[in-house]
Amino acid sequence: MDRIIIKGGTPLYGEIPISGAKNACLALMPAALLTDEIVTLDNVPLLSDIQTMKELLLSLGCEVSSSENDRQLVLSASKISNFMAEYDIVRKMRASILVLGPLLARERRATVSLPGGCAIGARPVDIHLKALKAMGASLELRKGYIYAEAKEGLRGVEYDFPAVSVGATENIIMAATLAKGITTLKNCATEPEIVDLCKCLKSMGARIEGEGTSIVTIKGVNSLNGTSHSIIIDRIELGTYMLAPAIAGGAVLLRNCKLDLIKSFAEKLKETGAEVIENEKGLLVRGPESAINPTHICTSPYPGFPTDLQAQMMALLSLSSGKSVFEENIFENRFMHVPELNRMGAQIYVEGGVATVKGVKRLKGAPVMATDLRASVSLILAGLAAHGKTIINRVYHLDRGYESVEKKLSACGAKIKRIKG
Ligand code: EPZ
Repeated sequence: MDRIIIKGGTPLYGEIPISGAKNACLALMPAALLTDEIVTLDNVPLLSDIQTMKELLLSLGCEVSSSENDRQLVLSASKISNFMAEYDIVRKMRASILVLGPLLARERRATVSLPGGCAIGARPVDIHLKALKAMGASLELRKGYIYAEAKEGLRGVEYDFPAVSVGATENIIMAATLAKGITTLKNCATEPEIVDLCKCLKSMGARIEGEGTSIVTIKGVNSLNGTSHSIIIDRIELGTYMLAPAIAGGAVLLRNCKLDLIKSFAEKLKETGAEVIENEKGLLVRGPESAINPTHICTSPYPGFPTDLQAQMMALLSLSSGKSVFEENIFENRFMHVPELNRMGAQIYVEGGVATVKGVKRLKGAPVMATDLRASVSLILAGLAAHGKTIINRVYHLDRGYESVEKKLSACGAKIKRIKG
């Protein structure tokens, strides 16, 4: 397994390119199952999660080819030969559940492995299943698989999601594009990745209104066409790299990026004393002139503070001049980075869904363990500021969601390298 070694203490100066959004791409790829025509996706990030989704779609009989050095995917689901999403693939990436809605809508049947939990929580899919049932699907759970069918096709429905769920909103919107009649969904998630998915679906001929708000209406059509779509930038990668000069010092330009996708995070980052300037080139972020100010972080669905940036912000605030409080309201176990940050000298105490961070003057490099995608990158950020050497093991977690992290950071002067194997 690869490891990443960082020698901390070097301020960062330069530019970091931001890739296409992993979480938009993982919904856009299954959307290709909704049509027998070609769907071309550009600005595809080079991540292992994307490879896993490609493997899954290939196993269903969808043709997937890459070009433009893998940054372009050409998908063709003209013939879906297999309707089973196997556990072996699904267990690697829970976004695999996003093939369920499209398969049911297009082929009226699907067998998808239950994704199982992951490091950050149980992550059930009950909300997805309840909504599909309301649309006329019959669902049976057997030996860890969801056996779904809709012999008469899915029908439009008025449905209130019992809780805000990004994946369920995406799955049901995709299913509703080919359902008979009108579907009105309430209590939808409003993430930019959902808006990007709907932009692509509408370019395929889907009739959708209200995306990006909590009420989305979809008028079912008989079939969808192919399209070409360029994926939005990854706002979570953007926020992660905005934290790099904030924690290590220096000034970094995130070229062609704007504040619009990341307002609540940027507000909190400014509260810590970092300078965030939006100009014609993109976003310029400078580390705080003096101490890092403590603050209060409360994760919530978009447009609130993103849970996917909680671990990264905690790395920064572990070096603040006071006490910060983190309330993690989305996932039940998303503090896996805490014991590793504490190994580096942080003083963080967790009680239930609340972490209290007592800022320390310095962090010390140490061997640490990556546990999940965002926890891993918070350790990288901490390593940039820590005195001495930090060795991060199990970086395969990192490669799921961050393209060439060591290249992007070393281009700004960070002393970071990957040790293969
Ligand atoms: C998406 O996961 C993202 N993943 C996650 O990013 C992100 O953290 C999450 O949304 C919240 O913003 C992708 O888009 C591929 P949810 P998703 O359904 O759709 C519970 C990353 O690091 N829930 O909005 O799985 C669930 O357990 C990843 O890039 C149910 O109870 O998240 C969680 O507590 C991590 N039943 C809460 O809702 C369900 O049927 C929000 O989950 C579905 C979800």
